[in-house]
Amino acid sequence: MFTMVSTFVLLQLCASVVAATNENFQNTRNCETSTFTAPVIPGAKVLSITAKERRNVDIPAAIASFQPLSDLNFCEIKVYLAHLGANDRVLVETWLPLSQDLWNDRFQATGGGAWATGMLDIALGPAIASGYAASSTDGGHPFDFFTPDWMLNENKSINWDLVHNFATRSLADQVYVGKSLTEQFYGRQPRYSYWNGCSQGGRQGYTVAQRYPGLLDGVLAAAPALKLPNVIMSGIWPIVAMHEAGTLVSNCEFSWFASKALEECDILDGAKDGVIGNPEACTFDPLRLVGQKMECSGHKIEVTGAMADAVRNVHRGPTTPFGINVFPGVPYGTPLNAFLNVTIDSNGVRTLNDPGVLDVFPRTILLKDSNFNVSKLNTSEYFALWVQANEEYGWILNTEHSDLSAFRDTGARLLSWHGINDPIIPYQNTVKYRQHVEREMGGAKAVDNFFRLFLAPGVEHCGLGAGAVPKDPLESLLGWVERGEPPETLTSETRNQDGELVTRDLCRYPRVPKYLAIGDINKASSWSCEGVDGAEEGDFAGGLKDGLKQAGLGWD
Ligand SMILES: *[C@@H]1O[C@H](CO)[C@@H](O)[C@H](O)[C@H]1NC(C)=O
Ligand SMILES: *[C@@H]1O[C@H](CO)[C@@H](O)[C@H](O)[C@H]1NC(C)=O
Ligand SMILES: *[C@@H]1O[C@H](CO)[C@@H](O)[C@H](O)[C@H]1NC(C)=O
Ligand SMILES: *[C@@H]1O[C@H](CO)[C@@H](O)[C@H](O)[C@H]1NC(C)=O
Repeated sequence: MFTMVSTFVLLQLCASVVAATNENFQNTRNCETSTFTAPVIPGAKVLSITAKERRNVDIPAAIASFQPLSDLNFCEIKVYLAHLGANDRVLVETWLPLSQDLWNDRFQATGGGAWATGMLDIALGPAIASGYAASSTDGGHPFDFFTPDWMLNENKSINWDLVHNFATRSLADQVYVGKSLTEQFYGRQPRYSYWNGCSQGGRQGYTVAQRYPGLLDGVLAAAPALKLPNVIMSGIWPIVAMHEAGTLVSNCEFSWFASKALEECDILDGAKDGVIGNPEACTFDPLRLVGQKMECSGHKIEVTGAMADAVRNVHRGPTTPFGINVFPGVPYGTPLNAFLNVTIDSNGVRTLNDPGVLDVFPRTILLKDSNFNVSKLNTSEYFALWVQANEEYGWILNTEHSDLSAFRDTGARLLSWHGINDPIIPYQNTVKYRQHVEREMGGAKAVDNFFRLFLAPGVEHCGLGAGAVPKDPLESLLGWVERGEPPETLTSETRNQDGELVTRDLCRYPRVPKYLAIGDINKASSWSCEGVDGAEEGDFAGGLKDGLKQAGLGWD
């Protein structure tokens, strides 16, 4: 949902080295409106530009894994633009370090989160703190993480101009605008330009790689919401799956199953560290626990067949009545309370509570029916909505083009990571895309030359969770792009329950972590990455059927 803060000490160092060795120093222009002229933006015209110097700006820690930032100084430039033939007014905001010696010579386009096309201050703050010139955009709609209401016109028709902005074109606009303003201000182009985003911002990074090759030198895209209509619809699958199994499973019970999965599968990577290193090796099956007892909300509860069935259905992911699994589920051991809120009262009565924001998209955008109630949805209604979501929005929101040759041919690099315990976007969604690119583009080794994926065991959505979180993946991307050092691992860390530092070097997909059976399990140096480099060209079986593809039930 948001980008990770990078450690900027190293970048500041780089910045001063670059500045010190740059012979053709030109003076940074004044931060005022008259300094800037309208950038050229394909398909859009500039309505206005205003610039002003801002000093001592504080950015609060808006989201848990952000550090608060204080005393930021920068030149803020607001450009409003309108797309040709569209009735929109889009803000692109660009922040520039106030002088060349504070600038690291790089431009960073920042991603959005959830239903926000861009996060403005929240994303620009960390970028400016690291010395980047950076941009963000509102996509022409109000800022709101939790609802896509802005997609509707007043008469409830879809505002396709805004959907188009959110999906694709605003992402390119902010690069055109930001790079132009950067050059106008410092008198030279940024040496390197990057994308940085997670979740929706991760999807946007893949969009830039797929649709706008040539704009950027490197893309950092974490936990991407690829196949967005499916990601959204899969959020309400657990409710349908429980109905299908004929029972409601409470959060407490789900947590119990998760702890049982951890008990069984944690050791498969060689160490009991509270994290399942390779969920593919985990053969946990809730049905084996039928008859066991647990304690929840003061009740002694015995695992029933229906309960185990429900848990299995939920983790399997959306599966049609004909047994076709159309989207990955989240692996066993992942906390599910982002999607479920079933409580048990003192009489043992189970209640499915309001699912919060989960049903907003089907209710307001697909059905436009404020009485739509997800708690009563049966399987056939669910898959009808699934198909509708794909038919109406898949073409623009899927981000599934698997031919990245134009991106590759510009010499650009795509670095991606995904938390294995991401409860919101299953990591397998990203793995499937990567496999699809391998199939399209000559096998794993060929793809590794420009696109690398790292899976983070135990990490949740864009961070948090029990696993070690990538510390500064942007720095790894810089090393790849600027110094030709492809990342073999991603340096990661977290604190365990005892507050001890835990470090890991995340393995490059498809390798998996393995404890060396000697040394401190908290230390990355006690672990290795095992497994082959992945399939070669020709190892792949035939593609998916066209019918499935059109219904959004497979990759293109
Ligand atoms: C609904 O409103 C939009 C935007 O104002 C307009 O373009 C469209 O024609 C309207 N549709 C109908 C059916 O009135
Ligand atoms: C679950 O529902 C209850 C009752 O509506 C509510 O009080 C609680 O905040 C909800 N919890 C979550 C995590 O949404
Ligand atoms: C949906 O239905 C459930 C069960 O009938 C009910 O408790 C809940 O209040 C309803 N939610 C809405 C938004 O109507
Ligand atoms: C699902 O619900 C719809 C609408 O209530 C109903 O017409 C349909 O028969 C139900 N399907 C199944 C398989 O229960």
